[in-house]
Order: sequence, then C-alpha cells, then structure tokens
Amino acid sequence: MPETTIAALNQTLYSGFVAEGPKVREFTQMVSDYLQNPRTMMVNNCTMALQIACHLSDVHPGDEVITTPLTSICTNVPIRHLKGKPVWADVDPTTGMSDINDVEKLINKRTKAIMLLHKDGDIVDLDKYVDLAKSYGVRLIEDCAHTYGAKYNDKMIGNHGDICCFSFQAIKHLTTGDGGCMTFQDEELYERGKKLKWLGVDRDKRDGNPWLSDITELGYKANMNDIAATIGVEAQKVIEPIIEKYHHNGELFTKTLKDLNIPGVTLIRRDPKAYSVYWTYVIMSEKRDGLCAYLEENGVFAEQNHPRNDVWTIFKDSRRELPGVDFFAARELSLPCGWWVDDEDIYRICDLIKNYQKKYN
Ligand SMILES: Cc1ncc(COP(=O)(O)O)c(C=O)c1O
Repeated sequence: MPETTIAALNQTLYSGFVAEGPKVREFTQMVSDYLQNPRTMMVNNCTMALQIACHLSDVHPGDEVITTPLTSICTNVPIRHLKGKPVWADVDPTTGMSDINDVEKLINKRTKAIMLLHKDGDIVDLDKYVDLAKSYGVRLIEDCAHTYGAKYNDKMIGNHGDICCFSFQAIKHLTTGDGGCMTFQDEELYERGKKLKWLGVDRDKRDGNPWLSDITELGYKANMNDIAATIGVEAQKVIEPIIEKYHHNGELFTKTLKDLNIPGVTLIRRDPKAYSVYWTYVIMSEKRDGLCAYLEENGVFAEQNHPRNDVWTIFKDSRRELPGVDFFAARELSLPCGWWVDDEDIYRICDLIKNYQKKYN
C-alpha cells in the first residue's frame, strides 16, 4: 500500500463524510479510465458483485449457471443464494479452467449464464466464450477476481463478457481492504446494477430525495464507502508498475522452468492472445504434496490455491463425474508470483523444484 494512503485516509476520515460519496466517485472514474469501460461501478466485495451479476442474469430458483468447481467458494455461493443450481463444467486439464466443449454440452433451456473464472490471472479462449454465450442467448459473467489489469486481444479485461466482477480484497492486485467493482457492456444492465447495489434506489438521482421515488426491484446493500475508495485511489495511482511486475514474474517463471525442463513438472497452457497478470504462478506436479512440503521447509509458501468446491455438502445436488478436475486438482500448485517476489527468488524456487523432482521422480 503506498505511503500516501495514510495522509489521504486522514483527510477522508475527518472530512465529515465517510459513506459512499466523492471518493467513491473519484475512484470509479479512475478505474473506469483504466479499464476503458465507462460502465464501471464500485461494490463492497466481489462476492456481492457476482451475486448482483447472477440477479441481473435472472437466475431464479431452479435455474442453472454453468461454472467451475476449481475456484474460490465466492464464485459459486451467489448462485446458491439465489436458489439457482451451479452446473459443474469439467476443466481442461491443460489449463485448469472450464473446458468450453463441456460447457457447450451443458447448455439447456434452464441455463441462464456461464460463469467464467479467469484462474490465477490467466485467460484462455475468451473470444470463443463470448461467441458461445451470444449464440445460445445466455449471459457471460466473468469472475475477474484474479485478473485486474489483464488483457485479451489487447483489450482490457472488463470489456468482453456481459458482466465482469473484480475483487479489491486484501490479497488482490489492487486492494481496498475489502472491495470490488463491476463492468458492463450493456447500458440498461449497468443502470439496473447501480440500483441493485443500493437497495434498489438510484443514488445518482440528484433531483430531490431518492427515497421518495418508487423502488421497483429488491436490491442489496453492496455499495463501497469513501474509506475503502480513498485507499483505492492511492493504490490505483501506482497500479501499472505493480501489474507489470506480476506479469514479468510469470514470464520469468515460464522461461526458467522451460529451460530447466524438469521431469514430473508440466507448465499449463497459456493463450497467446492473453496478457496474463499471474496472480499466482500455477504449475502441475506429479508429486504435488511432497513438493509443496519441501518448498515450505525451504521457506517458500506454495499450495493448491482453491480446493475443489464440488465435494461440499452445500453443492451436493450438483455432483457429476469430472475427470479433468480429478486430474488437475491432484497436480496443481500455485507458486508465489506477486510484486514482492524478485528474479533471484524465482531462480531459487525453480532450483528447489528441480532438486526435489530429481530426488523423488
Ligand atoms: C476466484 C474468486 N472469485 C471471487 C472472489 C471474491 O472476492 P471478494 O473477497 O472480494 O468477495 C475471490 C476472493 O478471493 C476469488 O478468489
């Protein structure tokens, strides 16, 4: 967090206004400029953004949303809160992300949306997903919690699917403590979204008391406040070098691991059209748990980032055979890749992986 945050917070805290106000407007404008999408809206976290996105996709009891079990619980809980059914797409074992062929097979008349996770900062096949969703008339919701600052086909993420949801939670590329934002392609959805995040009320309405207008749709208390936005404004001022560092680190991992060509370690498929922001650097290891423990003994924290969701009781109605998930979940390992990791750390981590695999492969 930049040091300027303290002075900025001090000013906001004693300004007499800490609810959603001028700082949220300032932060919204900055993020909107950065993402190059004028239909950008702040929220209090990405989980609520995903719930609003499902609501806007008209997910009603019994409706289906095609999604992945290899994600944070936050991706899938909003579907259940609306009494919809998460339908697990199998993952492509070369990427760990939803297999588009399986997604297409799962679309039926109850399908309201495809929930597409861009896992750990990577993006694959996004254009094909946009076309698929359009051709079947279902919404494409992108879970962009790990992809702030990423691009696809030279366009910022936040400008492809119908609704994109970003997280500004504590360990994301940009943090406001907790927070998030949504971007929209469609003006009408954007206007509806703005009301939904504030209990159905249009806060932008400046002529008179907004509470005196009728409320026609049940909304959520999901707005960002000026304290979080103040942190966000300062963080956004320095975001570009941070994103570049994540990207540099990911590319250096790829180059170093390719050069080392370690038996038992496979790199995941990355789409050449994507500018990944490598939230973590994911590899597949045939000896994942042992490698993980070895890295930890040597001071490197690595883990399977998000254990599979489909085994939990809350999602028991969604169970199905998922061979791609079985394969990937047994092997995936997230290596640290953030701005605090330098080139020497990366060479050392790769050497540790090589030493371990040489001994135990
Ligand atoms: C993939 C994914 N989606 C959604 C979220 C939810 O983000 P938030 O904590 O802002 O609600 C997270 C949070 O870690 C996440 O990893």
